[in-house]
Amino acid sequence: MAHRPAARVRMAGLLAGLALAGCGGDDPPDCEVAAGTGPVMPATGLCRQLSSYRLFADLAAQTADPALVPFDVAVPLFADYTVKQRWLYLPPGGTAAWRDVDAFELPVGAMLVKSFAYLDDRRAPTGGRRLLETRVLVRQVGGWKAGAYVYRDDGRDADLAPTGDVLDATWIHDDGAARSNRYVVPDPNQCLNCHGEHMARMAPLGLKARHLNRPALDGTGDQLQRWIDAGLLTGAPDPTTWPRDPAIDDAGASLDDRARAWLDVSCAHCHNGTGAARTVGLDLSVGQLNREALGVCKAPVAGGAATGGRRYDIVPGQPDQSILVFRLESTDAELRMPALGRNLVDADGVALVRAWIAAMPGSCP
Ligand code: HEC
Ligand code: HEC
Repeated sequence: MAHRPAARVRMAGLLAGLALAGCGGDDPPDCEVAAGTGPVMPATGLCRQLSSYRLFADLAAQTADPALVPFDVAVPLFADYTVKQRWLYLPPGGTAAWRDVDAFELPVGAMLVKSFAYLDDRRAPTGGRRLLETRVLVRQVGGWKAGAYVYRDDGRDADLAPTGDVLDATWIHDDGAARSNRYVVPDPNQCLNCHGEHMARMAPLGLKARHLNRPALDGTGDQLQRWIDAGLLTGAPDPTTWPRDPAIDDAGASLDDRARAWLDVSCAHCHNGTGAARTVGLDLSVGQLNREALGVCKAPVAGGAATGGRRYDIVPGQPDQSILVFRLESTDAELRMPALGRNLVDADGVALVRAWIAAMPGSCP
């Protein structure tokens, strides 16, 4: 369970010029919460210790307070083979308001919680695990506050990491081989690079209709319908009109739909018209129908090493000639995509995108 002392995370050089203003994560933590039991949110700032929010009856075991609603997304973001748990907390009487495309609107006092862990052995999902960090997004009057809490060695509490952290981790992989990673806990500017999807305003990313439209975590019924039935979600249109991300291995969905959902979750928070990668004109949002904006026969903005000697982001039928695949398969901190959030290559994601490009008709000039 040992972890190394905090180390400033090196921000990929390519993002340095995009450091976004208005983060709010630099405020000194202050945490004034009322005494009592059950979850509690500070009106401003973040608490230094995760335990202060009273979210979990037992932090080491991740036993959440009954007021927390566990949820999952259809296509999770790859995070170096960690396993994740997510919860939604709504203040008493508060509800989430439906939106068709962007994240549901949540009231002041709401919180989103996401814990990251490595399974000791990925072949034994119910066996031992090492808790790494819990990320929170807290809705306050001035907007969303983001923080990451790194677990102490005994897992009984976690401390706010205002400048991020690096944790050396080892595990047994799916194939039985020993693997290791210098796992990166992001700093608040890095949270904002992704969660500032539109005009650098911090906002949730997974809490969208198309990501949440999937079976409930306990397998009984549909996740969104359960929220509606419990009075947690208002304003939803007729269920037959709900958008849906097919899972990466959904045999009933087309290759195109699966690849587009994966690119949307993995890339579109930066690669959209108002995101951190807006200047390159590569828009990987699920609603983007223009082939060149999607990268097909699009010449890249950055030349040289960033292209791996290839001419276009996507060359139909030719994954090996596509810069997009080259950057997905890169582990170089200056080249790899997504630009944040991973050291390792997402083998399943790469296989999906390769198959998608291989099946694409046409050619480039
Ligand atoms: C590489 C981009 C990236 C970075 C960096 C990042 N996130 Fe996220 N985060 C996502 C995406 C995409 C999702 C939704 C998909 C998922 O949960 O797997 C998400 C989900 C979450 C959730 C669950 C609620 C939601 O929005 O769906 C929380 C809480 C969260 N992130 C907090 C943080 C905090 C705090 C930081 C910084 C310490 C951070 N994230 C850094 C991309 C990122
Ligand atoms: C944290 C923000 C971020 C995320 C997430 C991200 N990118 Fe990028 N991407 C950038 C930035 C910034 C650039 C421009 C600088 C450069 O080329 O390195 C870029 C450039 C690119 C380019 C070159 C495009 C061109 O036409 O010049 C490709 C290809 C690319 N990204 C693919 C992806 C893919 C595929 C994903 C998801 C798997 C992804 N990116 C996720 C920030 C991001």
